[in-house]
Amino acid sequence: MSKQWWKNAVVYQIYPRSFMDSNGDGIGDIPGITSKLDYLAELGVEVIWLSPVYQSPNDDNGYDISDYRAIMDEFGTMDDWERMLEEMHKRGIRLVMDLVVNHSSDEHPWFVEARKSKDNPYRDYYVWRDGKDGREPNNWESFFSGSVWEYNEPTGDYYLHLFSKKQPDLNWENETVRAEVYDLMKFWLDKGVDGFRMDVINMISKVPGLPDGNVRPGFDYASGAQYYMNGPRVHEFLQEMNEQVLSHYDIMTVGETGGVTPEHGILYTSPERKELNMIFQFEHMDVDSGPLGKWDVTPLDLVRLKKILAKWQIELHGRGWNSLYWDNHDQPRVVSRFGDDGKYRVESAKMLATCLHFMQGTPYIYQGEEIGMTNVQFPSIEDYRDIETINMYNERIANGDDLNEIMKGIYAKGRDNARTPMQWDGSDNGGFTDGEPWIAVNPNYREINVNQALEDKNSIFYYYKELIAMRKRLPIMVEGSFELIHEESTSLFAYMRHYEDETLLVLNNFTASEQVAEWPESLKGLEAEKLIGNYADEKKEATDGVIWLRPWETVVYRFKK
Ligand code: NOJ
Repeated sequence: MSKQWWKNAVVYQIYPRSFMDSNGDGIGDIPGITSKLDYLAELGVEVIWLSPVYQSPNDDNGYDISDYRAIMDEFGTMDDWERMLEEMHKRGIRLVMDLVVNHSSDEHPWFVEARKSKDNPYRDYYVWRDGKDGREPNNWESFFSGSVWEYNEPTGDYYLHLFSKKQPDLNWENETVRAEVYDLMKFWLDKGVDGFRMDVINMISKVPGLPDGNVRPGFDYASGAQYYMNGPRVHEFLQEMNEQVLSHYDIMTVGETGGVTPEHGILYTSPERKELNMIFQFEHMDVDSGPLGKWDVTPLDLVRLKKILAKWQIELHGRGWNSLYWDNHDQPRVVSRFGDDGKYRVESAKMLATCLHFMQGTPYIYQGEEIGMTNVQFPSIEDYRDIETINMYNERIANGDDLNEIMKGIYAKGRDNARTPMQWDGSDNGGFTDGEPWIAVNPNYREINVNQALEDKNSIFYYYKELIAMRKRLPIMVEGSFELIHEESTSLFAYMRHYEDETLLVLNNFTASEQVAEWPESLKGLEAEKLIGNYADEKKEATDGVIWLRPWETVVYRFKK
């Protein structure tokens, strides 16, 4: 293992289409990113994860790649990319690229060939099956609605696509495919990139035979997840990748892995197994979903949220490594989701940041989170761009579902909440573009924007900056063990971290009302030093021996034995 520089670093995710447009075409681009690197250096992030910038027909905004070695025309040129990397490295910022190799685009030359005939040399790069009784080969449902199978006229059979039909799954059983992937990884690593975020990497190995799943009454398709998530050969493939590629570079890797338990987490991230450095688990992203899944919106179950995160903290401690996130380009904005995006927007955004950053693992900040950007409510489906949202909408409208219910789901969970343009200033389109943005800017850009945040020393931005700097200073944030307290409280998320002779007490009020709770027995009589908090004035509770928190308050104390 290398130096593990990623353990005390904070990662900032850029969704390039929505970050900064430099040429007025309404689409964010690479020179736009380069122009904002001083801003990111000021925030103090040391790593950037860049969502895909490769050549793509953009069926899924770059997660459908037609050339793994070229830059998307809309984003700029390879020269622009090289300059961006150089400017990042000059500022001590490392670059993690997105690796999307569970599937390619159907416009990738491999697939263009593969679909031509059964004896084409590229045929076995993808997953093909014959139909069954005039239907698809099995009953799995795609993440983007409908079947995972698409009929291919020239060959008279079907190809597998877990995502859109323009994202055919690559056949990892074929060792030539694996060799191609390792090769393209080396191409980027040799150009100097510092790691990969691996898209749905735990779906690359499917159970042979691709068995049917169980269809629930009233549904057309089944989730096939048990047959393609954490499949039989996934660890073998990752160890092979590690041996052939990753181990030869000083880099960081993070796997996107839905449907994992901490036991899986240890298998993927335990250093002696030589697979990945860390993974994104998704259990805590389900705490506001009902039995029908993502679009079945329920209020946050705080007790469940705490239990899930505590479980990951405790089980991976000393055995693997967590990544910590509330937001990314697939999730709604956390201040709207678990906080209060109205009266207490600033307080609750800081509270959520504290709650996350004081846990063990590598924290991720998604663009705009550091200024408290919120969800958006566009009036009509015409304003939405995301394929997942649009397919779901069309399917449910055809089903006769209630329009208001559908829109309620989109407002709460739609991916475009995260994809509205970055709000740089109060000028038209939030300073994102001089042209017509590819998706509308959130109308609150005049109040919520980077300029405003930089001018206010109490802004969310400076609070994040302080959290990032603290992780560098305080080994306990990186190394300490985790202990949840007040487990059953439906309002407080309170925990301790322990390391050597120190303890941190991290208190978070997830409500707009005052909360009082018992001070932990083990800390009674010890002197408390306040490290950070979101209310400026001092309180007396540290010495009074009672926890008292104001609306959405967060506060962290340090104790030395
Ligand atoms: C996960 C990515 O984060 C998401 O944006 C994408 O749609 C799917 N994988 C398919 O690549």
